[in-house]
Amino acid sequence: MFAVRVSVVCFLLTITSGSVEEENPEFWRKSAQNTLRSALSRKINTNVAKNIVLFLGDGMGVTTITAARILKGQLQKHSGEETVMNMDTFPNVGLAKVYSVDFQIPDSAATATAYLCGVKTNLNTVGVSAAARNGVCRSQKGNEVTSILRWAKDAGKSVGIVTTTRVQHATPAASFAHSASRTWYSDADLPASAATEGCVDIATQLLHNIDIDVIIGGGRKYMTPKGFPDPEYPSDASAQGQRRDGRNLIQDWIQMKEGKVARYVWNKTDFDAVDPEKTDYLMALFEPADLRFDVERDHSMDPSISETTDKAIQILKKNPKGFFLLVEGGRIDQGHHSSRASAALHEAVALDEAVSRGLELTDEEETLTIVTADHSHAFTFNGYPFRGNSILGKSPIFASDFLPYTTLMYGNGPGHKITNNKRPDIRKVDTADKDYIQQSAVPLDSETHGGEDVAVFARGPMAHLFQGVYEQNYIPHAMAYAACIGENQQHCAITAKPDENPDTSTDPGNSAQNMPDYTFTILMISTLMRILLH
Ligand SMILES: *[C@@H]1O[C@H](CO)[C@@H](O)[C@H](O)[C@H]1NC(C)=O
Ligand SMILES: [Zn+2]
Repeated sequence: MFAVRVSVVCFLLTITSGSVEEENPEFWRKSAQNTLRSALSRKINTNVAKNIVLFLGDGMGVTTITAARILKGQLQKHSGEETVMNMDTFPNVGLAKVYSVDFQIPDSAATATAYLCGVKTNLNTVGVSAAARNGVCRSQKGNEVTSILRWAKDAGKSVGIVTTTRVQHATPAASFAHSASRTWYSDADLPASAATEGCVDIATQLLHNIDIDVIIGGGRKYMTPKGFPDPEYPSDASAQGQRRDGRNLIQDWIQMKEGKVARYVWNKTDFDAVDPEKTDYLMALFEPADLRFDVERDHSMDPSISETTDKAIQILKKNPKGFFLLVEGGRIDQGHHSSRASAALHEAVALDEAVSRGLELTDEEETLTIVTADHSHAFTFNGYPFRGNSILGKSPIFASDFLPYTTLMYGNGPGHKITNNKRPDIRKVDTADKDYIQQSAVPLDSETHGGEDVAVFARGPMAHLFQGVYEQNYIPHAMAYAACIGENQQHCAITAKPDENPDTSTDPGNSAQNMPDYTFTILMISTLMRILLH
């Protein structure tokens, strides 16, 4: 008990120092009035979205967002809680229900099919409806569903995928592939029956399904023949090519783009040298499989997710018809599965920095930006830590077993370790270390996903459509509506007829409707002028 008291007193002494202005009620009133003013000045943006950027934090539940926000502030030497993430500035926020057709708590394949293809499906499957069965090739045929990446390409837009995982991974795969199993990365991963029944691996589909302008992530080994040495790790057998069909899909891709400027790069030096103005197509694969965690990234070899997002947008935005870009922070999820909260949160902070880059390079008037997650994790933010306590730190008050516990922990996962009926004593452990594994209630090798709703942040044309609580598969329908692509385009024709839409007739954005009359008058005047002048 004495130890508990001492630690409480110490913390009370430290917190009272930094928050003098917050003791003044005017501080909070002023801050609330500023927020109110900005809410009141908000105008609904009913423009057509020329561009769409979808930022997807894999496993980035609301707990992760709050904890990452605090980490972001603390990395800048602030208390942290009051920090504003870039995604926090988006004017519209909704909640998406993430369950899959067959599971209460979903995986990244089923959810990616929902938020990219607009159809909920079964666990482990990508780009197919729930009529297809997990892992059953036969059930795939006739049940394919297309994604917003395809709808955008069909409308003449440029399209791209940026991820921190292998580009064949579930999230990007749902944008271009149809597969009864998300794990069919290369032909070597296809069961013999699936191959005879005509199913094609995801890497091959990456080349042949949709003409994708920008492909950035990892996953070299699924593209090259078995035994093909990796350029970065030539002596590492696990990094070698995997393909049984002997194809080198990277070479094939370069050949397919003949006549265009198509660049393939695998390291940062070459990536930095890619001139977006002079590049039509870019494939950048920085690792044999997934990229490294941002906290472990070799800055000389691999760019950050902000840098890859930047390059992708610079290339895609040259298309006068606009673009669709999927940016995935794919390893927040993997950090959580290992219960390495530090690694997971740093990934989320890196994604938020990429959001900032995206906003800088695009115009809110014509670009719909969405930030969301596929699903959450069994990740808790708990206890009564004092203000400014390290988000990766410990509660000042011990638990009833007289041991401290961390603010962040997991409901299940690899962090469940009991010896002599006791939890590990972490008093001398640096719980902020990038390798520290937070404790969990239930032992599992890999921590699981969580099933609660995920946040959807929206900014730009038609962003107000993302308010409310809805099914996750609503997201691409609303994005497509905003961009006048995909199946629902009646409103795009309607806005061209002013008499049917009187509310918008005073909107200067719709003055194009009156163009024919003005054009005629101007033509008349200029013709008269010409006659008079000659
Ligand atoms: C980057 O890739 C190019 C092309 O393969 C290679 O020539 C160059 O040496 C690589 N750079 C580094 C630092 O490995
Ligand atoms: Zn996962």
